[in-house]
Amino acid sequence: MQPSLQVMASLVVLLVAGGCKREPDAGAARKAALPEVAPNALRAPEAFAAIENPAERSKALFLEASRVFLHPRCANCHPSGDVPLQGMDGLAHDPPVARGPGDRGAAGMECTSCHQERNLEHARVPGAPDWHLAPIEMAWVGKSPRHICEQLKDPKRNGGKTLAQIVEHNAHDALVGWGWAPGSGREPAPGTQEQFGAIVAAWVETGAACPGEEARP
Ligand code: HEC
Ligand code: HEC
Repeated sequence: MQPSLQVMASLVVLLVAGGCKREPDAGAARKAALPEVAPNALRAPEAFAAIENPAERSKALFLEASRVFLHPRCANCHPSGDVPLQGMDGLAHDPPVARGPGDRGAAGMECTSCHQERNLEHARVPGAPDWHLAPIEMAWVGKSPRHICEQLKDPKRNGGKTLAQIVEHNAHDALVGWGWAPGSGREPAPGTQEQFGAIVAAWVETGAACPGEEARP
């Protein structure tokens, strides 16, 4: 069962509060240095110049990018189980479908028997080229930003990608791009894909450091 968003939100609040007690400086200093941002916007990479220590700057950039990685438009297709999720609360895919061989659905119920190369507005079926589920080692639902950070850097779990290819994937991949053009009134991921690509590139340029286990955006 998926915990509701409210439960997850309160957990995040608790974890952040706990993290602050153990680490008085990092979280508070980062928040103080960064400008406020609307939930549907991303901070520009330049905003992070206020954090002088490059490793801390890199971690803060990754936390900013996590606002996209953990957004339902991305996480619903990077689930921790064998079923895609849908909607803002990450409910199980309806109609019921299975991951199947190669993450492309079960025989006769392949993802692409319903999902086309573009959104079908009237039928509410989202679409993008080669629609299928992210492999289980790329699962993000219920994971910390640190876990996602380590996973993205691990060629054994990231599809054999270099960091340059990770930047490229985030900035230009069509399934990633769908997150900002999800159709049928769905909420897009924060910012734009271009801004997100710039944040991920800045994270790599500053050494691709991973935030602490408790750190949350
Ligand atoms: C029988 C048709 C059908 C099949 C097969 C199917 N889907 Fe879907 N899928 C839908 C429909 C319809 C929706 C839209 C539900 C809604 O938003 O009301 C949807 C929504 C989704 C969403 C939700 C997007 C969001 O963020 O809300 C994801 C992710 C998804 N499908 C992934 C998959 C994957 C991966 C597969 C193959 C393993 C698959 N689907 C197979 C019909 C299908
Ligand atoms: C329709 C399903 C789907 C959606 C939606 C989706 N992804 Fe993915 N994602 C995949 C698949 C499949 C792969 C594996 C493809 C590969 O390795 O080339 C993947 C791989 C990735 C990777 C590279 C490998 C890794 O280590 O994770 C990144 C980065 C990524 N996705 C980011 C995103 C972001 C950011 C979003 C939202 C803006 C998103 N994805 C939305 C299906 C999806």
